[in-house]
Amino acid sequence: MRIQTDFLVVGSGIAGLSYAIKVAEFGKVLIVSKSVLDETATGYAQGGIAAVMYTPDSYEKHIADTMKAGSFLNDEEIVRLTITESTERVKELIDWGTQFDMEGSGRYALAREGGHSEFRVLHHQDKTGAEIQRALTEKIKEHPNITILENHFTVDIITQHHLGQIVRRSRNDITCYGAYVLDPTTGIVHTVLAKTTMIATGGAGNVYQTTTNPVIATGDGIAMVYRAKGVVDNMEFVQFHPTSLYNPHEKPSFLITEAMRGSGAVLKNFNGKEFMHRYDARGSLAPRDIVARAIDNEMKLSGSDHVYLDARHLKEKEILEHFPAIHAKCLSLGIDIRKEMIPVVPAAHYICGGVRTDQYARTSITNLYASGEVSSTGLHGANRLASNSLLEALVFSHRASIDASGKIDSLELCEGIPDWNAEGTVLNEEMVLITQSRKELQAIMSSYVGIVRSNLRLKRALDRLEILFKETEDLYDKSVLTVEICELRNMINVAYLITKFASQRRESIGLHYTIDYPPTTEINQKS
Ligand code: FAD
Ligand code: SIN
Repeated sequence: MRIQTDFLVVGSGIAGLSYAIKVAEFGKVLIVSKSVLDETATGYAQGGIAAVMYTPDSYEKHIADTMKAGSFLNDEEIVRLTITESTERVKELIDWGTQFDMEGSGRYALAREGGHSEFRVLHHQDKTGAEIQRALTEKIKEHPNITILENHFTVDIITQHHLGQIVRRSRNDITCYGAYVLDPTTGIVHTVLAKTTMIATGGAGNVYQTTTNPVIATGDGIAMVYRAKGVVDNMEFVQFHPTSLYNPHEKPSFLITEAMRGSGAVLKNFNGKEFMHRYDARGSLAPRDIVARAIDNEMKLSGSDHVYLDARHLKEKEILEHFPAIHAKCLSLGIDIRKEMIPVVPAAHYICGGVRTDQYARTSITNLYASGEVSSTGLHGANRLASNSLLEALVFSHRASIDASGKIDSLELCEGIPDWNAEGTVLNEEMVLITQSRKELQAIMSSYVGIVRSNLRLKRALDRLEILFKETEDLYDKSVLTVEICELRNMINVAYLITKFASQRRESIGLHYTIDYPPTTEINQKS
């Protein structure tokens, strides 16, 4: 089927939906989501959204914290514009119906997380993302200009390549005309022609064995844009959240929000002893890269599979009011967090890099925007400050909406695009070829391209990824399209980019830590 729209939006998290709400005032919008609308990383967010709301906080303080967390590899201009627009964007989210927790005084209750010098994180208990997703979904569903295609998988964006032209990365007039979208229930690939396309496909945590990310996070958007010869950046910086609940077979790993450490919970090693002060003066509230590495080191020293987060000294009222979901989850596993320590382990959580964008979320491909976790705006540098990603998505989706709506009337659909050609492909009867490769990929990335890296580990990863790449491309060329083969292909692509970028960075900085180039200020690794 051929579908025509003004604005194509791939992704239904905070980036996709907040953009769609705005551009819907200017034309027809089609939102494509590979799962149900609210199965997004956005819906899983716990801690909250960072914004400057009241004194003594200030834009300058939030900017300084963001730059420091990012080891000053951030783009300062982008940091400044994101933070100075934070208050306005969050107020808009509130106007759209999002409810954040209040204090008795009528002000918003603000939490503090690692790396923040002030209390500035708006939250809804420990279910902030679910509340944001609820409000946005309700708003979207009432708009007559918006059509939603749930459970549809975007395979590739359409460019001049599909008109039979040779498209090289050096070409500076690559243009996006829409995307090919697979309906997995019928196997039909729709040709969606769009005047502008927004890629808001979220992260890629599933390239690792242990991740807090939902199953949808397979890096599809990054891979699609890279295949279309768009510019991708900053890929070596993968954030591992220090505290996911240790429960080996659960996917995704359940997050224990950093806000719990902000409220006073403390990390302890396998022997029940505090250790973070040996690594950083900020203790358990140091930035994530430092805490994750410290935990990794403590686990290696003791040979244990996890460490503990101790919240036993927090007031019962605080636990029940602020962390009801964590309390209930742990209780369901037989852990009463009021009386017992929580076993925790780091898990892949957030990819700082992605599709490179400018101040208006424009990618290097004309009429293609990217916002949210899929993008690399320059905000995060070498490490993302906690709770800055929901904010980033809001700011850049807003900016993209200004640019896209401003030019929509001057754009035409490209009619000459051929439909998807499935000639010569057959149904792959052996799912094991895909599932086994996926497991291998995750094992390679977790063993060689995780929290601590080395030249040798990265080289091993690249060699093995090359084999997986060849086998999978071969299978892809012969197979009828399925979500599983497309995701595997995208994950291999993203894993390759993470590893390649990591190999090229010959220093330890932020989230990229390699034993071959130790940092100038070495952490104390002795117990
Ligand atoms: P998502 O919300 O992940 O949405 C991606 C969308 O793209 C989905 O609808 C998906 O179906 C769709 N999609 C993907 N690929 C395709 C495809 N091929 N075809 C069609 N559709 C596709 N950040 C904070 O700032 N504060 C927090 O407190 C916080 N807590 C977090 C807790 C957890 C457990 C996790 C996992 C993340 C957390 N983060 C937090 C990070 C933050 O939630 C995400 O970075 C952010 O929600 C990403 O939003 P997004 O709109 O870019 O992507
Ligand atoms: C958390 O609640 O700890 C996650 C916050 C984030 O990822 O920004």
